[in-house]
Amino acid sequence: MPTSGALNLILQAAHQAPSADNSQPWRLGWFNQTLSVAYDTARVSHKTFPADSPATLLTIGAAQENITQAANAIGHPLTWQVPTSLDPNQPVYCQALLEQATESTQVSADALPLFKRHTNRLPYRAQRLPETLLNTLKKQTEASAHVVVIDQPSTISQVAGLVKQASEIRFQTREIHEWLAKSLRFGKSSGSYDDGLDVNTLDLPPGGIAFLKLISAWPRMKILNLLGAYKALSFIDSRPVKDAPALVAIVGPSGFQDILAAGQLMDRIWIDLNAQGIAVHPYYVIADQLHRRQAGAIPAGLEKQADAVFTKAREIFQFGEGETLQMLLRVGYPKKTPVLSKRLPLEVVCSI
Ligand SMILES: Cc1cc2nc3c(=O)[nH]c(=O)nc-3n(C[C@H](O)[C@H](O)[C@H](O)COP(=O)(O)O)c2cc1C
Repeated sequence: MPTSGALNLILQAAHQAPSADNSQPWRLGWFNQTLSVAYDTARVSHKTFPADSPATLLTIGAAQENITQAANAIGHPLTWQVPTSLDPNQPVYCQALLEQATESTQVSADALPLFKRHTNRLPYRAQRLPETLLNTLKKQTEASAHVVVIDQPSTISQVAGLVKQASEIRFQTREIHEWLAKSLRFGKSSGSYDDGLDVNTLDLPPGGIAFLKLISAWPRMKILNLLGAYKALSFIDSRPVKDAPALVAIVGPSGFQDILAAGQLMDRIWIDLNAQGIAVHPYYVIADQLHRRQAGAIPAGLEKQADAVFTKAREIFQFGEGETLQMLLRVGYPKKTPVLSKRLPLEVVCSI
């Protein structure tokens, strides 16, 4: 049995994981020496990605990685039990059996790199990343998930084009637009919100906040789309990718356990890069549209555009049989420290 301090550190570590739109969809349970990670249906369903969506599985994989890193740091052996698929009636993704530590180590959260991981959506310096680092990144794997590093300017430019194309579909997709609108948190200063996307953490151009408020309601967005709003937004969205010194893609199959593994790999790389002073900005839009295409969920009339995204993505990211892009990270040396996102109080996400 871990001490209450050790258990608290592990729970905090899980809760510090990145999540799509900062939705923090996890419900953490502690029973019979076992830590479980489930979907908090009552709190988040219909407000963000569903329990079995690839975005949520990536998020949960990241929480799993944080739990593993925290447990390792305090010297607690841990065994994961992961089902082969998610039970929709009882959406428990994984359970960690924590054994007695032979020698318990006192560690403060400040000493763990996972607590310093964060999203940086600001512009980065043009400086290239060291060749040795890029080569190390290319070799990273977790189960079926692997990494593709893109650092040639012409290929980076092609990926920026793909982000733009995928974003154009996204800004014409009602469901994604409404999830985003529900997660946006408007306020003059940061710090007032503990979940969702605080607009102060976004790199918005002048007038951006007012524009986001304007388009939050889908009927208005639909009208503005007739005037080409989706094109302007997609251009703004893809611009930082064009200027990126490097991109890191997480590629792998899309089974339940495969995407959890991709989430672990994404989080591990993100923590390591941040610990080396390198900023990370996830771009989920291409991966999302590829999954939606696979699920037949592309809005009518946009299927050809989604097919074009798939064909080009397969060529650039060199998908093997059954593989797809699970996540794209823009990486580089930061110019500035971003506003950090908050978390809900731990007791809101825990059943202990
Ligand atoms: C599955 C997933 C998808 C994400 N997609 C995006 C994205 O497309 N664009 C973006 O700016 N941030 C994206 N993020 C970053 C989250 O918004 C971020 O993790 C969350 O707001 C918490 O902030 P933090 O990473 O600084 O802790 C994504 C994160 C995850 C786990």
